[in-house]
Amino acid sequence: MISVALMGHGVVGSGVAEILTTHKQKLFSSLGEEIYLKHILDLRDFPDSPLCDRFTKDFEEIIADREVRVVIETMGGINPAYEFTKRCLKDGKSVVTSNKELVARHGAELLSLAKENNANYLFEASVGGGIPILRPLHQCLVANEVQEIAGILNGTTNFILTKMINENMNFEDALKLAQDLGYAERNPEADVEGHDACRKICILASLAYGKHIYPDNVHTEGITKITLEDVEYAAAYGCVIKLIGKCKLLETGLMDIMVAPMLVPCTSQLANINDVFNGIMVRGDCTGDVVFYGKGAGKLPTASAVVADTVDCCKHLKARKYLYWTDTSENCIADHNESLTKIYLRLEASDAENAYNKAQEIFTDITRLERADAPESEVAFVTEKELPYGKILEAVETLEQSGIKVASAIRIGNL
Ligand code: HSE
Repeated sequence: MISVALMGHGVVGSGVAEILTTHKQKLFSSLGEEIYLKHILDLRDFPDSPLCDRFTKDFEEIIADREVRVVIETMGGINPAYEFTKRCLKDGKSVVTSNKELVARHGAELLSLAKENNANYLFEASVGGGIPILRPLHQCLVANEVQEIAGILNGTTNFILTKMINENMNFEDALKLAQDLGYAERNPEADVEGHDACRKICILASLAYGKHIYPDNVHTEGITKITLEDVEYAAAYGCVIKLIGKCKLLETGLMDIMVAPMLVPCTSQLANINDVFNGIMVRGDCTGDVVFYGKGAGKLPTASAVVADTVDCCKHLKARKYLYWTDTSENCIADHNESLTKIYLRLEASDAENAYNKAQEIFTDITRLERADAPESEVAFVTEKELPYGKILEAVETLEQSGIKVASAIRIGNL
């Protein structure tokens, strides 16, 4: 029997406790030993839980228990999860987590601490919820040079955009529905402003390239400015709008990494990933494109990945897994202003024809888009050539200086 402890009995944590109970026999068959959930740390009381005798409010009880070899952290957030995780690892206890914020911010340090103490720090559930992606990336695809990773990494924003695209619902109503259905995080800002997707692309990039990529260094845009007008114009161009987290290895050896809404051609596999589902494309130099699809959030899908990591830790109590990246002060990220992209722009001006002509002068090669019932003051187009993002920003400024309002500017994803 291997004793484990769980820290945090929220949505994911309660799912972990549930799977460890309901799938006890299945897990026993895989491990050859029973996993015994000995402690559950939470400040709240759960008198009706069938495991009510296991709850504690005191972390010291877990750290002092020599029988506990694996600690599952599903608390979320940085504090106190960071301190607790460090103490467990220093004590030689392996830690499993779904906490993408912590991994994205302190992953290199915690992995190094795990290595020093001959323990494991595993976090499959931190990206893509129930979708196996980290293990395939660092094990099954290890023979590849990963050229690019691009994905829909946030279920809440994908749900909102799907409602906007398929049901003509505006952003505010779709967000409200996502909150009512319990999809949005406690603070919807992390989802709708792209921070959650940013943490996930940082974890993927760190793992693929072996160097810690910090979220603060990654250009991140959310979906709060996307309108139904943009959705209509995107459709006219044969695209849907998706929030994409993307990391591409450039010939310079630097990474072009970002999170931003993009027009995705309807022919792309990522265009057909809807509702709260996530989809991640990994382009390997040997494999070509490999796409992972499934539920990126939710109690049992995420708990499934946490339990799988727990089993893995239990199987490797005396051996380390080769999941690792290092901290580095060296710059790994290319200047975002150099990032090449085609762009969709929607302009508002008292003289729309003049605005279009001005845009054509600046960008030279553009294609105008039409939508039904567009006001006379509106004009939308896409550029036919890729331009450095910095040049696009300069062009936007020039248009605005001529009294033309740039109502929307959305990249066209080469996906
Ligand atoms: N809020 C996240 C999402 C949860 O919507 O994808 C899973 O990380």
